[in-house]
Amino acid sequence: MRYRKFSGCGPICQPIKNQHSIPGQILLALFNQINLSLFSKFTTFMETIKTYIDSNQDRFLKELIDLLKIPSVSADSKYKQDVIRAAEFVKQSLIKAGADKVEINPTKGHPIVYGEKMIDPKKPTVLVYGHYDVQPADPLNLWSSPPFEPVIKDGKIFARGSCDDKGQVYMHIKAFELMMKTNSLPCNVKFMIEGEEEVGSSNLGEYVKNNKEQLKADIILISDTSMIANDIPSINVGLRGLSYVEIEVTGPNRDLHSGVYGGAVPNPIQVLCEMIAAVKDKDNHITIPGFYDDVVELSKAERAEMAKAPFDEEAYKKDLVIGDVLGEKGYTSPERTSIRPTFELNGIWGGYTGEGAKTVLPSKAYAKISMRLVPNQQSDKITELFSKYFTSIAPKSVKVKVTPHHGGEPVVTPTDSFAYEAASRAMTESFGKKPIPTRSGGSIPIVALFEKELGLKSVLMGFGLDSDDIHSPNEHFGVFNFLKGIETIPLFFKYFSEYKK
Ligand code: BES
Ligand code: MN
Ligand code: MN
Repeated sequence: MRYRKFSGCGPICQPIKNQHSIPGQILLALFNQINLSLFSKFTTFMETIKTYIDSNQDRFLKELIDLLKIPSVSADSKYKQDVIRAAEFVKQSLIKAGADKVEINPTKGHPIVYGEKMIDPKKPTVLVYGHYDVQPADPLNLWSSPPFEPVIKDGKIFARGSCDDKGQVYMHIKAFELMMKTNSLPCNVKFMIEGEEEVGSSNLGEYVKNNKEQLKADIILISDTSMIANDIPSINVGLRGLSYVEIEVTGPNRDLHSGVYGGAVPNPIQVLCEMIAAVKDKDNHITIPGFYDDVVELSKAERAEMAKAPFDEEAYKKDLVIGDVLGEKGYTSPERTSIRPTFELNGIWGGYTGEGAKTVLPSKAYAKISMRLVPNQQSDKITELFSKYFTSIAPKSVKVKVTPHHGGEPVVTPTDSFAYEAASRAMTESFGKKPIPTRSGGSIPIVALFEKELGLKSVLMGFGLDSDDIHSPNEHFGVFNFLKGIETIPLFFKYFSEYKK
């Protein structure tokens, strides 16, 4: 299946023959009898990486499983102590791997773990960012195995946070361990692993502003995104922004008998549904005045380039068991989920939803809405435009309250940079195929903030798959992907250091 799904790792599971290894092989034959130790000089970096991973992978997985057992759900205060335990786990892993100055920095919310290894101030510095917090695991009854009791099944690790983002953070810690243990760390490295990404990183901005010296670096490296497929590696070059709002519609001052009053008074659920329906026209264009004003339209050539990335709509529909796709007229599914803005309901409730029937005309109705944004839309402006429009279309029989939640700006990262080139070379070597640049539909709001506050670009080298069910029941992460990440990251460090010399 070509739709961003695991399609078997095929030949890429085999060790990739590296051209540089040929002289090593010949010399091995010559010197084998005479002096074995001489050969180590000719071992390629890839061979060193593979040997280290081969002999340590069981331990890597065991350690990751221990991290995944901690329910570090940032959204729910019930798990506050577990969030702290996860931060402590990350701290200890960084120390064990060889990092210095490892600290847990408190914030008004959940703490930020920092650690570094400075080998030479004249050498470049890579700042690794990730998050150890996870989404709530609900609905629990839809999980095949409990979310915080990780199991490995069919080559995949099933647990909340396995892909987003503990598994991907742990790849970096193990890649760092590998470079330390094999004496191959080519530059400085800093780690900033936060605990509030899934709730909007509301305290990270302040931390970044107040710690610019500590966070000084040449590039930010993030693994918190996905690839097209295991045999179609890709590098993320764009993330959407976000405006998240909550709506409360109030009709009568109290819940009423739906027979006694129904027909004469506003039903807030009905009104809310009509208002929501008015936000899109028949072509699924968003009707909020000014919504598209700042949207950067891609040129025909850019869209043609995008269309080269493989996408199988039939497989996509089959995987999701939907009769058809549905979205903005004039755009393909990959475009609708990356270069176009959206308006989506994330939750809607009100009235009686318990067992059986209760005749009630509710006083209130609610909805949670996310709008995904693309360059050059601005989160605050879109929230404002939405609020104005939504309150303007409300009938005078109801009261409407719009409460903004977190937001974030969209980003597009360059493909003509040293850092992109280094990531591309690293993936080409580890996957045996050149990665395709792709833009993603998800959001990591802090990426735009890093650029604004630190003047730093990010490389979004993620190893998950869209089909890993992040934020959903049965989230998983391929063992193949986890190990491929550990293999690729040291290569990125190597090439980035060489380019930056
Ligand atoms: N790692 C995701 C974002 C992501 C996933 C980007 C897949 C690209 C591909 C991140 O943890 C996330 O879930 N972000 C939230 C936004 C946040 C403000 C809650 C999102 O995109 O909904
Ligand atoms: Mn994430
Ligand atoms: Mn997430």
